[in-house]
Amino acid sequence: MKIYILTIFPEIFSSVLSCGVIGRSRTQFEVINIRDFATNKHRAVDDAPYGGFGGMVILPEVVMDAFDSLPEEARAKVIIPTPRGRLFRQEDAAALSKEKAITFICPHYKGIDERVFELTGAVRYSIGDYVLTGGELPALVMIDAIVRLLPNVLGNFQSAELDSFYGKWHLGAPVYTRPRVFRGLKVPDVLISGDHKRVLRWKKMKGLADTLKYRPELVEEKKLTEEEKELLKMIKDKKGGIDVRPDNQNGRSSLPKKGAG
Ligand code: ADE
Repeated sequence: MKIYILTIFPEIFSSVLSCGVIGRSRTQFEVINIRDFATNKHRAVDDAPYGGFGGMVILPEVVMDAFDSLPEEARAKVIIPTPRGRLFRQEDAAALSKEKAITFICPHYKGIDERVFELTGAVRYSIGDYVLTGGELPALVMIDAIVRLLPNVLGNFQSAELDSFYGKWHLGAPVYTRPRVFRGLKVPDVLISGDHKRVLRWKKMKGLADTLKYRPELVEEKKLTEEEKELLKMIKDKKGGIDVRPDNQNGRSSLPKKGAG
């Protein structure tokens, strides 16, 4: 896959794109500095918004000049991160991982002139209901989610299939490693049983139980399979060996004990 990134802060991208799983992936990244296309005297890339109320808006001309310099393949799938977009979800990452090339245009300050969306045919994506200083971090978040799904990027793709939201609407299960007992806390016995079927069932049940606990708004009767309905009933009836107590109620607390200074 080839990923083009248009930004006024190219330096933000260098470390993230060269480290870890993303750095090792064979994805080709091309980071283009929008400022290189500024032709005015001060190489300005922004101006005050029409209508007032302050802040600065990225000029359409400089963005479009940068965009026009890209090869044909870069125009097929264009994404502009914005809090005014639709929420970026795992299924979007999965669909985008099938593209040959994607171009991200990163707004900054108050945003990018609205006409750029129309002229590039960009899709708007938000990464959540909060406002960041620019589209660079959202672009990196989306790139990370997309690139890890490319063939041969994850050492063991089966691990992605157990992730939260991967082909499912709910959270995945928590993970543990050695030692079996750490500071008095035990790894659930089932994970040491060597019984793959039981482990998978536990993971499903624990993922559902944790969804009820941490993201109850995701649980909608109409999207539940018969198996999920059955598992959720067991969880609510406190059957199946899943601890359903709220955090810090498992006999330990992260809060200091009374009188402990
Ligand atoms: N730019 C600023 N905030 C953003 C958000 N939440 N998602 C995507 N782009 C943004």
